[in-house]
Amino acid sequence: MTESTNALDRVLVLEMVRVTEAAAIAASTLVGRGDEKAADHAAVEAMRAALNELEIDGTVVIGEGERDEAPMLYIGEKVGCAQGTGPGIDIALDPLEGTTLTAKAMPNALAVLAIAEKGNLLNAPDVYMDKLAVGPGYPAGVIDLNLSPTENVNRVAAAKGVQPNQIIVCVLDRPRHEKLIAELRAIGCGIMLIPDGDVAGVIAVTNPDTTIDIYMGSGGAPEGVLAAAALRCVGGQFQGRLLFRNDDEKDRAYKWGVTDLNRVYQLEELASGDVIFAATGVTDGSLLAGVKRRKDGIMTTESVVMRASSGTIRWVKGEHRL
Ligand code: FBP
Repeated sequence: MTESTNALDRVLVLEMVRVTEAAAIAASTLVGRGDEKAADHAAVEAMRAALNELEIDGTVVIGEGERDEAPMLYIGEKVGCAQGTGPGIDIALDPLEGTTLTAKAMPNALAVLAIAEKGNLLNAPDVYMDKLAVGPGYPAGVIDLNLSPTENVNRVAAAKGVQPNQIIVCVLDRPRHEKLIAELRAIGCGIMLIPDGDVAGVIAVTNPDTTIDIYMGSGGAPEGVLAAAALRCVGGQFQGRLLFRNDDEKDRAYKWGVTDLNRVYQLEELASGDVIFAATGVTDGSLLAGVKRRKDGIMTTESVVMRASSGTIRWVKGEHRL
């Protein structure tokens, strides 16, 4: 873990949980209702209100989209009630990571955010990112996005001391991953296909209970930065490369200061310095239990909050009398 800098106020660690709890509770009222937009909207409104109660001078650097496409929590929106006076903080957020999972009451929907000092989170455009991740305990450089999936599996297998066909890889279940899946099948790997939610998918490599060794494949670039922030805290290796489908997406990247479109970003280039990552479960998942309403009306939540500078990971169970 990196040396403690106390760059972010310790008080903020628990404040972050309040924010993700608020978003998760709001989204939970729409679990299984078949309405992605309504669930997302509820989470966004609740997260924004909770952020605006904090004594920070915050700026959303990864949010719901650009200003003209997202009315709330857009990129560049100022949040916090201490503008100009409080600590300057950059925020990457996804009030509801897994809108379809929520609408269909499927596992692994989360409310997530990461904060860092100004300039320490990559301002990733809303394009795809090719992602490659392993959990802690491997030699530095064991994975490399410039190598083929087969070569990466072979290297991880050798480092783990197992055969390549004993490696389990998590991949988003998408037609664009057909070739990747065929290559992994040819090696004989186990493939855990997930329908959505690659923040949880990437974080799953850090938890031996999931049995997942490697995360591979493309998903949202903003989600890549959030997952990288989590891995900065919990350990593990992550690499990401932005993927562009057209010139408009390339223009977006240039607008956010990306100059080398083929660059492979290392973990520390996605989230550097002191970082706090927080998540609350919306539906039950590999990382966290979802929001539940007990018979007595109390809502229960499960959250995790972690900090890069200290390496502390806190699991927080909440009971909310609403
Ligand atoms: P949303 O919560 O915005 O629906 O994102 C879910 C998700 O599965 C992400 O976890 C992932 O990064 C992205 O969608 C993948 O995008 P696509 O569905 O276009 O493959």
